[in-house]
Amino acid sequence: MVIIMSSFVSAFGAVNPKIMQKLKEKVDFADMTDEEFKKKHALMKQAGDAKANEEFQKTKIRGCYKKSVWSGGQEIKFTFDDWDVSKQADVDRAREVGNKAYKLAQELKTDNFNVTLYGNSGVGKTSLAIAMMTKLRNEANKSIMVVSTAELASLLDNKYTQDDTRERLINIERALKEVDVLLLDDFGTEGGSLRSIKVVRKDMQDYLYRVANSRVGGDKTTIITTNNNDEDFELMYNTKIISRLLTKNKDHMIFFKDMKDVREI
Ligand SMILES: Nc1ncnc2c1ncn2[C@@H]1O[C@H](COP(=O)(O)OP(=O)(O)OP(=O)(O)O)[C@@H](O)[C@H]1O
Ligand SMILES: [Mg+2]
Repeated sequence: MVIIMSSFVSAFGAVNPKIMQKLKEKVDFADMTDEEFKKKHALMKQAGDAKANEEFQKTKIRGCYKKSVWSGGQEIKFTFDDWDVSKQADVDRAREVGNKAYKLAQELKTDNFNVTLYGNSGVGKTSLAIAMMTKLRNEANKSIMVVSTAELASLLDNKYTQDDTRERLINIERALKEVDVLLLDDFGTEGGSLRSIKVVRKDMQDYLYRVANSRVGGDKTTIITTNNNDEDFELMYNTKIISRLLTKNKDHMIFFKDMKDVREI
């Protein structure tokens, strides 16, 4: 898709209506290359057409979410209304973490920073992270994407034998870089269990580095849920990745301390 700028904008600065129409056509973001995506966005901005920009954001919201990598392929839905404090023996603690997640989501409607949710298994980290993202999509029109880190690692495993997985990983990487709010779910599981932490394989580190680096400093937010602590991460990952993904600001961390596993299986 090559569009020559000079033929696109007339001498009066108005956009050729035929081309405007083309821009407004529903293009599936999922099928665009990096170059096409950037070019389309630039053209729309240049066109200054609010409606076109709105359409573009809608396409981006749909396209990014569609590329989510769910644990076991299972989509998770959760909102703040679903957060039931009585599930925990320590009701106050459950209320406290719920309120903090809500307050941070509220701030993220107009700001961008990373958030980390620390805690043991089954305490509700993924649920609250998804509630935050859902609020940001519904109330601030942000594009969101959920990626299970373990599932991403297994896609990387398959890329050597499956051509379509290689292609999928390229598409996922593009969305990971572009999406407004990203959830890296269960970050650290790829580094092994508590007693046997190991260095994460190079292809995973390289992949995440490219993503983390591209998201830093921009108008992006990355939310992380994890069972690990900072010492574990130092053993698993290059510090360049960690410093770009994990916030150092205590106000942006949520600790699910002394909460019990409420997963029903
Ligand atoms: N306070 C709560 N109110 C309602 N449902 C909850 C609550 N806490 C947890 N759950 C439910 O319990 C299950 C486990 O929660 P979740 O997956 O969010 O835990 P997690 O901390 O992410 O665990 P893991 O570390 O194993 O990924 C989910 O089905 C979730 O919806
Ligand atoms: Mg989880």
